[in-house]
Amino acid sequence: MEDFYDLVLKLAEATRNHEQYRDQECINMIASEGIKSPAVKEMQAAASDLEGRYAEGDNDLQGHVKKRYYQGQKFMSPIEDYATDLMKSLFKCNWADTRLVSGTHANLATFKGLSLATKNRKMVVTPLSCGAHISHDYTGLAGAVLGIENISHVYDINEMNIDPDRSADVIRAAKPGIVTFGGSLFLFPHPIKELKEVCDEVGAYVAYDSSHVLGLVAGGVFQDPLREGADFITSSTHKTFPGPQGGVVMGNTDGKRLDKAVKKIQYAIFPLSASSTHLGRLPALGVAALEMKLFGNALAKQIVKNAQTAGQYLYENGVKVLCEHKGFTRSHQIAVDIRAYGGGNKIAQDLEDANIVCNKNLLPYDDQGSKGDPSGLRIGFQDVTRRGFKEGDIKHLCDLMLDVIKGKRKPAEVQQDVKALRKEFAGVQFGFQNAEGAINYIKKA
Ligand SMILES: Cc1ncc(COP(=O)(O)O)c(C=O)c1O
Repeated sequence: MEDFYDLVLKLAEATRNHEQYRDQECINMIASEGIKSPAVKEMQAAASDLEGRYAEGDNDLQGHVKKRYYQGQKFMSPIEDYATDLMKSLFKCNWADTRLVSGTHANLATFKGLSLATKNRKMVVTPLSCGAHISHDYTGLAGAVLGIENISHVYDINEMNIDPDRSADVIRAAKPGIVTFGGSLFLFPHPIKELKEVCDEVGAYVAYDSSHVLGLVAGGVFQDPLREGADFITSSTHKTFPGPQGGVVMGNTDGKRLDKAVKKIQYAIFPLSASSTHLGRLPALGVAALEMKLFGNALAKQIVKNAQTAGQYLYENGVKVLCEHKGFTRSHQIAVDIRAYGGGNKIAQDLEDANIVCNKNLLPYDDQGSKGDPSGLRIGFQDVTRRGFKEGDIKHLCDLMLDVIKGKRKPAEVQQDVKALRKEFAGVQFGFQNAEGAINYIKKA
C-alpha cells in the first residue's frame, strides 16, 4: 500500500486534474449528466453547514415537515418546505418529497411504497436492453433489493418505444401493482395516456422515472407525465434538470387512493431508507427550479433542436442514427448504431481520446452479454446546449466527431480542435451567473 500522506497528496492532485480536464478541456455528451449554473454552484457552496445536519422525521401530505427528532431545526424545516414547494409549483402538483438523495433512492422509496400500498410485488417495466434503468430491473434495485417481479412492456424496436397495444395485453394479464415508464435510453415520449385506462382497470399505480428528462418536462416539452396519467414522478435532479445531485418524488394527494400511496412512500423514505437527507443541496435545488421556471422552455427547446440537428447531420454523413423516420429524437439524446465503424467500445474510446466524452450503449437488439462492446453510442446535448451551442456549432462539433468516427484524423489531433471549441463556450447560459443575480431578478420582478 502506498504511503498514507502520499495518497492524500495524490487525491488532491487528481481532483485538481479532474476539474481541469472534464470541466475545462472536454466536451461532455454523457446524456445522464447535467451542468449547473454559477448561481446554483454558489448556493451549494453557501450551504456547507446545512450539508452536515440531520433532519430525521415525518412529513405531512403536502410534503411539509411534520415532526423532526432532533433539535436545531429552526431554519432547516422551512428550507426543506420551501424547496419542496418550489418543486410542487414548477411541476404543478400538490405533493413532493425532496429528501431523496438520488434518482435511485427515489425509485427505491416509490417502488417499495407502492408495493406496500398494493400488497402486490409485480411491476411492468421496459426491458433493460430497451432503455430501462438498472434500478427498474430484477437484476438491480427492483428485483435484487426489493424482491419485485419484473414483467416486461412490449418494446417496438423500430419505433424505439413501448408498444401500447401489446403492453396493454401484458398489463391486463399480469395485474401488476406498478406500471413504470421512463428510462435511460429515452428518445420518445412513453405512451402513458394510452395505457392509463388499463392501469386503472387492474388497480396499478403509474410511476414515471423522469431522471433523464426532468428538465425537458419542466421546460414544457417532451411530455407532461402527471397530466397524461402518471401518479408519481421519480427523478434525479441533476441531468437535464440542472440542479445539484439529488432526487425527488412528486405527485398528487387526493384524499384516498393517492394519499395511501404517499404515506407508504414517505414511510419508505423515513424510516426505511434515509437517515441524513443531504439537506445542503436544497438551496441550490431551489435556484435550479427558478432557472427552469424562467429559462426552462427556451433551454429545453434548444436542447431538443440541437439533438435533432446532430441526428440529421450525422445521418446525412453516413452514420446510422436510429429512428430517422421519426426525426431521430424528441429528447436530449440520440442513439447511434456504430458497428460499421468499429462498435461502441472502440468509438467511445476514440472520442474520449479526442476529449469528446459520451458513452457506449447497448441497443435494443444487442445481446445483454455484449455490455463491454455494444453496438451503440448514446449522445446527449443538454451540456453543450447550456454552454451556448446552436445548430451551426453542433454541426461543427459533429464534423469533429465524424473525423474521429471515420478515422480521417487521429484523435489526438482532433483533441486540439475540441479544446479550442470548448474554450469558445466558456460560460453557462439559461441561468444566473451568481446568487445575487437571481435574488435581484426576483426583487425587480
Ligand atoms: C432513468 C434513470 N433513473 C434513475 C437513474 C439513477 O439516478 P441517480 O444516479 O440519481 O441515482 C438514472 C441514472 O442515470 C436513470 O437514467
